[in-house]
Amino acid sequence: KTANVAVVGATGAVGETMLAILAERRFPIGKLHVLASERSAGGTVEFRGDDLIVQDLATFDPTGVDIALFSAGGSVSKEYAPKFAAAGAVVIDNSSAFRYDDDVPLVVSEVNPEQVKHRPRGIIANPNCSTMQMLVALAPLHRKAGITRINVATYQSVSGAGRSALEELGRQTGALLNFQDPQPKRFPVQIAFNLIPHIDDFLDNGYTKEEMKLVWETRKILGDDSIQVNPTAVRVPVFYGHSEAVNVETKQKLSVAEVKALLETAPGVEVVDEPRAGGYPTPVTHASGTDPVYVGRIREDFSHPNAINLWIVSDNIRKGAALNAVQIAELVVSET
Ligand code: A2P
Repeated sequence: KTANVAVVGATGAVGETMLAILAERRFPIGKLHVLASERSAGGTVEFRGDDLIVQDLATFDPTGVDIALFSAGGSVSKEYAPKFAAAGAVVIDNSSAFRYDDDVPLVVSEVNPEQVKHRPRGIIANPNCSTMQMLVALAPLHRKAGITRINVATYQSVSGAGRSALEELGRQTGALLNFQDPQPKRFPVQIAFNLIPHIDDFLDNGYTKEEMKLVWETRKILGDDSIQVNPTAVRVPVFYGHSEAVNVETKQKLSVAEVKALLETAPGVEVVDEPRAGGYPTPVTHASGTDPVYVGRIREDFSHPNAINLWIVSDNIRKGAALNAVQIAELVVSET
């Protein structure tokens, strides 16, 4: 069985990886449409060695599309996802536009794949990259011991902010090494050789929206509104791969050996945890360009009776966005 697929935002950082992953995993594609704004319409993107012509989303007729992968920002999704769904497509949306709607499932393929079927609006939401990798690792711990609270600080790469952000880190790095002014544009302050404790908008409670996504999405995906999450989200001068320092409190005590045993058999997880130089995952040495969620630095929190510390690293563009979207699409095409 094949499906006609549309990739919306095909020229973007996530869109190009969606195309690469569809090819890599030999997704059963009938027709493939690559869509973006009128700015890049008429240009090309590569798929399986061929150049495909980019079409303008605004004038595209979605009739006949079976699956549409959206990654062109929230306002584009809000406007066009319902139109694609009305034309009969299943929309898999990478933006936050629909994530918190009760009638839109929010799916991590290793955690709650069964939710894919409950899509009355024909829209399935792909979680935020930071939530995605955290829950691939934490869901097995939650099932075993009941998570009550998560404290997390994220170290998020610039690719999560799109192609212009990748370019800004490169440009500023070059400028600073040549004693020139970094001239921030995409980020509010210099990102090269710096850290920025601010991702997405500030909200009335003092947290940023990126931080609150970790709260809202964790509860929705694990189906437990009692889980407390306390996040700090930080942008770091890394190109690809998000890292997270996570402290998890559970109802039942988990030993390090139990956590390792759970994670070693967990789908999508790779444990890299040896107490020696280099015996832990980093964005560059492990995550960038690969599929797994890597977990290291697993240790008991000696300040708490029932808590574990973890270091979780994954490629935010792959598992954090494009890969999970394609895995959802695989679940949809495999429906009878
Ligand atoms: P375009 O190349 O035409 O700007 P990134 O997250 O890497 O910045 O990528 C964003 C993606 O979303 C790009 O493919 C971009 O296309 C696309 N996009 C942005 N705005 C629109 C729009 N109004 N209509 C269609 N696609 C859009």
